[in-house]
Amino acid sequence: MSKEIIKGSSAPLRGEITPPGDKSISHRSLILCSIANGHSVVKDFLISDDTLSTANAMRALGITIGINGTQADIIGKGLYGLQEPEKVIDCGNSGTTTRLLCGLLSAQVFTSILDGDKYLQARPMRRVVGPLSLMGAQITGKEDGNKLPLTITGSKLKGISYELPVASAQVKSAILLAGLYAQGETEVIEPEPSRDHTERMLSYLGIPIEKSGNSIKIIKAERIESGEIIVPADISSAAFFIVAALITPGSEVLIKNVGISPLRTGIIDILKNMGGNIDIINEREANGEPIGDIIARSSDLHATEISGELIPKAIDELPLVAVAACFAEGESLIRDARELRVKETDRIKAMATELRKLGARIEEFEDGMSIHGSESLTGSTCSSWGDHRIAMSIAIAGTRAKGETEILDAECVSVSYPGFFKVIDELRQ
Ligand code: S3P
Repeated sequence: MSKEIIKGSSAPLRGEITPPGDKSISHRSLILCSIANGHSVVKDFLISDDTLSTANAMRALGITIGINGTQADIIGKGLYGLQEPEKVIDCGNSGTTTRLLCGLLSAQVFTSILDGDKYLQARPMRRVVGPLSLMGAQITGKEDGNKLPLTITGSKLKGISYELPVASAQVKSAILLAGLYAQGETEVIEPEPSRDHTERMLSYLGIPIEKSGNSIKIIKAERIESGEIIVPADISSAAFFIVAALITPGSEVLIKNVGISPLRTGIIDILKNMGGNIDIINEREANGEPIGDIIARSSDLHATEISGELIPKAIDELPLVAVAACFAEGESLIRDARELRVKETDRIKAMATELRKLGARIEEFEDGMSIHGSESLTGSTCSSWGDHRIAMSIAIAGTRAKGETEILDAECVSVSYPGFFKVIDELRQ
């Protein structure tokens, strides 16, 4: 179990970085290109534990995937070309792998079993099993189908109209993937819009998607064309260095090639509301995904209150918002974020516990937390809770804490951002 030590410092962060590829888009590129016809090339693909879980799952389903540098070459076998896996598919720590595959595997002509690590085994799966069962899927699992391992016996599916009880791009994507195979039309209605990379990639690969308000419709597909996909850098990874620059005097960091889909830029909206000096320049597009370069400079932050529609747009960055709030004037409030309790770990409890060890004043609620800005954190020994985003959020807090912050079980950063710790040193002047 590796640990990392972060030295608190007032050294400004300066320079430019291009974070690794977007995790959500990398997962989707592997899955969709596997059921496309022929050779697809994915450039700037994220090589991390999570995306390798998806690559290995698709390989276990008979797909040839070559990964060279940051390029993935996928030889798609069409919608009906997957093969029964010989063994249990190990989804590792990846909720996205598990939930998206539930949708895909529900429609196959064979049986598959999905399992994962102890963190994934604790996460709720009824949210996908429920709607997929309404489509005719046969899925069984522990705790009456709510927990891994799940056994999925492929069936003939029928389209449904399903109102999601909670905004979730993973559940929406699972239903849309099943909808590619289901008789008739499949509709998902979201309470608030969540990231739409599945819809964007399906459209890019020639599958019609009908959007109207919060409703997304798909009809049974005949064929998916292969293509070239360029993966933008992950805004969720960029966010750590945006916050690091904002809270460190004298900093200016340029973060290049970042995916800036409006359903992912909640973190920018939140930080700008807090007084963050952030600009997005060179806006452009690749394969239907907006991209830009982000400049973040040190800023005098003030407290903020976030809830409602903003929550799904910043869901993975909320632990980091808690860190920014520690360095902001006043008391910040995060509400409507109950979903954080069922992520890789309970991220409300984890952040409240670990930031308190550094001296932060935090109150925990069932659906969020309040954070008193103080500017006076002191290094301590913290746990990652086995969760990549907790490890990296605490590391950013540690860069501005007095003395040293030790992060235990820090190797989990490789789930989304291998090399994260080196980047801190590279940017510090
Ligand atoms: C993801 C969706 C979100 C997010 C996760 C990645 C995706 O999860 O938290 O890190 O790629 O679809 P939910 O669908 O559970 O909100």
